[in-house]
Order: sequence, then structure tokens, then C-alpha cells
Amino acid sequence: MPFDRSIKIAPSILSADFADFGREIAAIEAQGADWVHVDVMDGHFVPNLTFGPPLVRAIRKHVTTFMDVHLMIAPVDPFVEAFAEAGADLICAHVEAGPHIHRTLQAIRATGCKAGVALNPGTPAAVVEPLLDHCDMVLVMTVNPGFGGQNFIHSGIGKIRTIRAMIGDRPVHVQVDGGVTPETAPLVARAGADVLVAGSAVFRGGSVETPGPYGENIRAIRAAAEGTYV
Ligand code: DX5
Ligand code: ZN
Repeated sequence: MPFDRSIKIAPSILSADFADFGREIAAIEAQGADWVHVDVMDGHFVPNLTFGPPLVRAIRKHVTTFMDVHLMIAPVDPFVEAFAEAGADLICAHVEAGPHIHRTLQAIRATGCKAGVALNPGTPAAVVEPLLDHCDMVLVMTVNPGFGGQNFIHSGIGKIRTIRAMIGDRPVHVQVDGGVTPETAPLVARAGADVLVAGSAVFRGGSVETPGPYGENIRAIRAAAEGTYV
């Protein structure tokens, strides 16, 4: 997929029905999702557990857009190949997950996947500066990772602006994850984010039987981010 900085909405399936991922993914894509964001948690790097490569492989068959795999695990390197083989388009690793994020990004790119680097709210923007020629995306967390439905942490806005300026002309996306709603979307978009992850704000009010609200929610976030406020 060619690089572009238009606003992309990436629903997090952390807020989907875990017993029905196939139909949930079909529903959000039919309702306008640009990417599908998959949250992998290990109960060690973050205080929650989700799923591993076999489930990611199973849901891959249902994704027709772009599958973005957010690894909240430590260590990362022993699992990179398994997530690549499971069909990730992009694998994102946290800078806090180990001492060798540069090596991790090399390992991700060596599989043919795009590589992302994620920063927790307590991590300063400057750490990504040496990594910008070695990644395709920087993820600025605006909640402490582990759970959906938390409140947006506003210090992420300045960090997005700093990172966006550091990126300059490089083909690197800025993704934001955590507490993204129609209220916070304009703040992050104006600061320079182009990929907006949203879990609870996309899935609220809808279901696979009644997917209309997914579309309304996605359109509301997109419109807010694009500044049209319709
Ligand atoms: C949090 C995850 C997020 C989460 C976002 O650890 O990385 O992707 O699903 O959920 P909301 O949008 O509800 O904050
Ligand atoms: Zn995430």
C-alpha cells in the first residue's frame, strides 16, 4: 500500500466480541475501517493477557484491509517471525520492552513486515530520533497500555507534535492509541497523527447483528479528525 498521510481509522478489536472476531472484522471493514488494530498482551509487559500468533493467523483470513499488530509483550524478538508468519502487515514493538529496540526493528523488517515503534505515556519523544530511518510508524500511547476504555492522557499531544516534526519528510506514520474519541481526535490529528486507533469509541452501541453504529462511530471520529465536525 503506498504511503500517505491521510487520516486512517484503525479500530482495536480489543473491544470486539472475542468469540466472533471473523464477523466483527467483516463488520468494521464494511463500516469504513481503514486498518484493523490487533492488541497482543502477555500479562508481563502489561497487566492483561489477550492472544498469540495462532489467533492472529486465524483472524488474518478475515482482514481485507491492513493488519496492524501492536505487541505489548517482552521480550519481542523471539516472537517476531511467528507474528509475521501469522500474516501481520505491520508489527509494532514497544521501546520499553527491551534493551535493543533497533535490533527488534531490523528483525521485523527482515520478515518483510512494516515496523512500528511504540512509546508509553511516560517515555519521552527523543528516544525515537535514532530510529526514524528504521521504522514505518511511531505509535504514541495516550493511555497506559493494557486495557481499553481508559481516559486520554493529554501529554501525548505535545509528544505527537514533537515526533511529527522530527519525522520531517520521511514516510513514517504517526499512530495514536488510547482514549481516541470524536472529542480527542481533532487534538491528535492537528498535532500530526495520521493513524487513529479506537476501541471503545468504535464498538460502542453496535454489534455484528447491528453494525450501523460502528459506521456512525468511525465516521464521527474521522470527521472530527479531518476538522469537518459533521
Ligand atoms: C490499550 C490498547 C488499545 C486499546 C484502545 O492497551 O493498546 O489499542 O484497545 O482502547 P480505547 O480506544 O478504548 O482506549
Ligand atoms: Zn493498541
